[in-house]
Amino acid sequence: MAPLLAGVPRVRRMLLLGVLLATSCILLTLKSPASSRKVFTALVGARFNTGEGVLKYVNPLIGTVNGGHVFPGATLPYGMAKAVADVNNWGETAAGFVSDDSKIAGFSHLHDSGTGGSPSLGNFPIFLHPGCPEDDFQQCQYTRASRAVDRVNDTTEARPGYFSIGLNNSIRAEMTATKHTTLYRFNLPAASQVQSKEDVVLNRPLLLVDLSDLANSRYGGNVQVDPETGRISGNGTFNPSFGRGKYTAHFCADFRGAAIWKTGTFLDVKANDTVKALGDVGSDFRIPSGSAGAWVQFDRAAKNRITARVGLSFISVDQACRNAEEEIPFFEFDRTLKDAEKAWAEKLSVIEVDHSGLDVDLLQTFWSGLYRALLSPQDYTGENYLWNSTEPYFDSFYCIWDSFRAQHPLLSIVDPQEQTRMVRALLDIYKHEGYLPDCRMSFTPGYTQGGSNADVVLADAFVKGLKEGIDWDLAYEAVITDAEVEPKDWTSVGRGGIESWKSYGYIPQDDEDNNGTGPMTRSISRTVEYAYEDFSIALMARGLGKPIEEKKYLERSRNWKNLFNPEQEDQYRINDDPVTGSSFKGFLQPRLRNGTFTSQTPRLCSPIYEQHVCYFDTQYETYEGSPWLYTFYVPQDMASLITTLGGKEAFIERLSYFHSSGIIYMGNEQSFLPTFQFHYGGRPGLSSYWVHQYIPDQFNASVNGIPGNDDCAMGAFTTFAFMGFFPVAGQNVYLLTPPLFREVRLKTPTGNYAIIRNIGFDARYENIYVQSARLNGKPYTKSWIAHDFFYNGGLLELTLGKEESTWGTRDDDLPPSMSTSYQDM
Ligand SMILES: *[C@@H]1O[C@H](CO)[C@@H](O)[C@H](O)[C@H]1NC(C)=O
Ligand SMILES: *[C@@H]1O[C@H](CO)[C@@H](O)[C@H](O)[C@H]1NC(C)=O
Ligand SMILES: *[C@@H]1O[C@H](CO)[C@@H](O)[C@H](O)[C@H]1NC(C)=O
Ligand SMILES: *[C@@H]1O[C@H](CO)[C@@H](O)[C@H](O)[C@H]1NC(C)=O
Ligand SMILES: *[C@@H]1O[C@H](CO)[C@@H](O)[C@H](O)[C@H]1NC(C)=O
Ligand SMILES: *[C@@H]1O[C@H](CO)[C@@H](O)[C@H](O)[C@H]1NC(C)=O
Ligand SMILES: *[C@@H]1O[C@H](CO)[C@@H](O)[C@H](O)[C@H]1NC(C)=O
Ligand SMILES: *[C@@H]1O[C@H](CO)[C@@H](O)[C@H](O)[C@H]1NC(C)=O
Repeated sequence: MAPLLAGVPRVRRMLLLGVLLATSCILLTLKSPASSRKVFTALVGARFNTGEGVLKYVNPLIGTVNGGHVFPGATLPYGMAKAVADVNNWGETAAGFVSDDSKIAGFSHLHDSGTGGSPSLGNFPIFLHPGCPEDDFQQCQYTRASRAVDRVNDTTEARPGYFSIGLNNSIRAEMTATKHTTLYRFNLPAASQVQSKEDVVLNRPLLLVDLSDLANSRYGGNVQVDPETGRISGNGTFNPSFGRGKYTAHFCADFRGAAIWKTGTFLDVKANDTVKALGDVGSDFRIPSGSAGAWVQFDRAAKNRITARVGLSFISVDQACRNAEEEIPFFEFDRTLKDAEKAWAEKLSVIEVDHSGLDVDLLQTFWSGLYRALLSPQDYTGENYLWNSTEPYFDSFYCIWDSFRAQHPLLSIVDPQEQTRMVRALLDIYKHEGYLPDCRMSFTPGYTQGGSNADVVLADAFVKGLKEGIDWDLAYEAVITDAEVEPKDWTSVGRGGIESWKSYGYIPQDDEDNNGTGPMTRSISRTVEYAYEDFSIALMARGLGKPIEEKKYLERSRNWKNLFNPEQEDQYRINDDPVTGSSFKGFLQPRLRNGTFTSQTPRLCSPIYEQHVCYFDTQYETYEGSPWLYTFYVPQDMASLITTLGGKEAFIERLSYFHSSGIIYMGNEQSFLPTFQFHYGGRPGLSSYWVHQYIPDQFNASVNGIPGNDDCAMGAFTTFAFMGFFPVAGQNVYLLTPPLFREVRLKTPTGNYAIIRNIGFDARYENIYVQSARLNGKPYTKSWIAHDFFYNGGLLELTLGKEESTWGTRDDDLPPSMSTSYQDM
């Protein structure tokens, strides 16, 4: 299987993998009070941009090509309903829409954003023909492939809560959404004869709903059309996009704006106007996979507009209808859109920024990144069919391996209430399924990429003092379960090789696991992740007053060292080229049970050497990254890592080489922290330097402006980088760099402001180095700051200059490491 996949480009390989997993199910062993704001605005004048004034800087189309897989459609923050035009382009359509030339096959209502697996969701697309050839419904095109139509160039418009596109069948579609309901406004020409692709047809619009999904994964289902009201409702059962199992979704579609002419159903290419229902309800007939559904044909619409409202639910068709009726009772498009815009403006208003001097591209990069970080996880509270609970339920933790590093820490600052609800949802999942998820979508567990990264999400929320309704004892139980109780199948939850972890202090390359099965690969990356997760457990144990366990997990968090081979050289060759490399020596390497090191070329799986051989289905010892990369992953004890690598100078030299040599790949989340790790070597200026290399060269406002799958994480990275601090996820630590703005203010949960102000700011970014700092008026020499600043507020003033300075360079100023300043973590 691996050799089959190894030669294929990444995206396609992931898809192929999805198909293999889906078809065989065989395990591969292989994101305030108005009055105080007014007072403040009055104080500082109108230069701060916030709330509705910033919506115009959000461009949801950023990252809709080049593998960004961003969902650019209409939705609310964390909204379940997500409406967009879906394209027929299997390789790129993970989120439905792609900014390319592919045809539009419909408009669907459930999506994920920025994911890397197979196409996700996209269930029950609706499609509108302006009429049928020869006014015969049987001559309209019903299947996904045949009905698909070109878009009209330059008609795509996307902004928070709104998406619209013009199609080559004379229709312009607009959409908006509430929590569980999408609302479409189809605009038709004011003529009795209309051009629809190559045909001229009588203006008698036919609207169909297809039970299919983006990945064509449906099993069975039901659909019915009510000939009197035109209501089309139904359901289907589908595969998740990066996990195992199945999920069922339901919809309820109603229409306004035109009188009903005919109704019916269709199966594949064939339409029928007497059969009003298909499916297993009340019959033995099981709808085959592919396109099938129901349709309503209308008389010419009086105002040349048809509005379609689609309620969604994972519980039942009845609940889908109820959701729609409660959320959008009167089909008012403009008002629904205004409400969505308001919801977004409120969310974004936590951050206020001084825009002066910055060009629009940078402003778009920033605000769009923040926006994307609030698309997922999705709030499915009240829609969980798996168990009854009064706790919140969120889905699309997709994946925590990606989101724990920046997105969840960001939410802890900009939306602590929702982050708290997400933590509660994770704990409710633990309670009912036995394990925290590492990745989860569509009510199913997704594949685990490394360790049990939810542990870090919980520790992060814990050290930042999130409390309301979180049962921290239950949380502790959940992380201990990850650390101590191996699941029989650890492909999608928990950790594998726990007995080896305890006895050898690393995951051996030739591990023998008698407790469970899972992909026995990635021994290096699993080792460093398990070590950091054990560290985050130690921090929770400390806070919960469990000193013995704290000590135990601190001890285990040192295990990363056991895979450090001081003799490993950085030599590699490509084909018959001469051996080449660098003089850096000492990398994390695979190790056998008997203690002997084997070798994996330190650059393997980096952009310059066989990048695409370290996925879920391949046999190597690192996941989606090189030993070069993973050797830096010791966030718990950077001081010790620095000693191991030969001291600060050697470390800085190595980290600089990692950034300048092409080994780093910014399109994946593991590269976020290394951008800021210069702080630990006493060179915080270099972190600022690299931030400015990557923004805007790799993170920018073009449609291709994201270097890899967004995962709602790339957006979080840019948000932090612009604001001038970056979290060490799981720790009460933020690494400081100058904001890319003159000043940024964050509203705190206590009703104050955390203000970071640059002194000597220049918008051409020549002064990017901190010379000195003051916190609330007093000199501040540390290169990092704790969460209290974002909770209670304060004023941090950074004086900037053109050259690096001695600020943040003394040992006492470095961010904490467990071996030197554990009490600060
Ligand atoms: C639309 O744009 C594509 C290129 O993106 C071009 O090939 C095509 O000719 C354009 N269509 C029209 C009608 O201008
Ligand atoms: C559809 O595309 C064709 C060919 O590009 C173009 O001539 C025609 O005007 C387009 N029609 C509509 C309604 O956009
Ligand atoms: C689909 O909906 C029908 C009725 O609307 C219901 O009888 C059927 O059980 C549903 N199917 C599933 C899988 O929930
Ligand atoms: C629709 O299906 C019914 C029942 O199978 C059949 O009698 C009728 O001919 C079909 N109509 C069309 C247009 O195919
Ligand atoms: C939740 O409670 C309702 C009402 O008591 C019941 O019908 C339903 O089966 C329960 N669902 C689950 C998953 O237990
Ligand atoms: C592995 O299995 C043994 C025997 O059933 C059990 O005692 C032990 O606790 C298991 N270890 C883990 C880490 O689950
Ligand atoms: C460990 O096992 C490997 C492979 O069997 C062998 O080559 C090596 O010599 C062994 N090392 C020791 C210390 O026994
Ligand atoms: C924007 O970012 C993309 C993705 O990283 C990159 O390929 C492109 O060159 C960047 N564009 C500009 C103008 O910097």
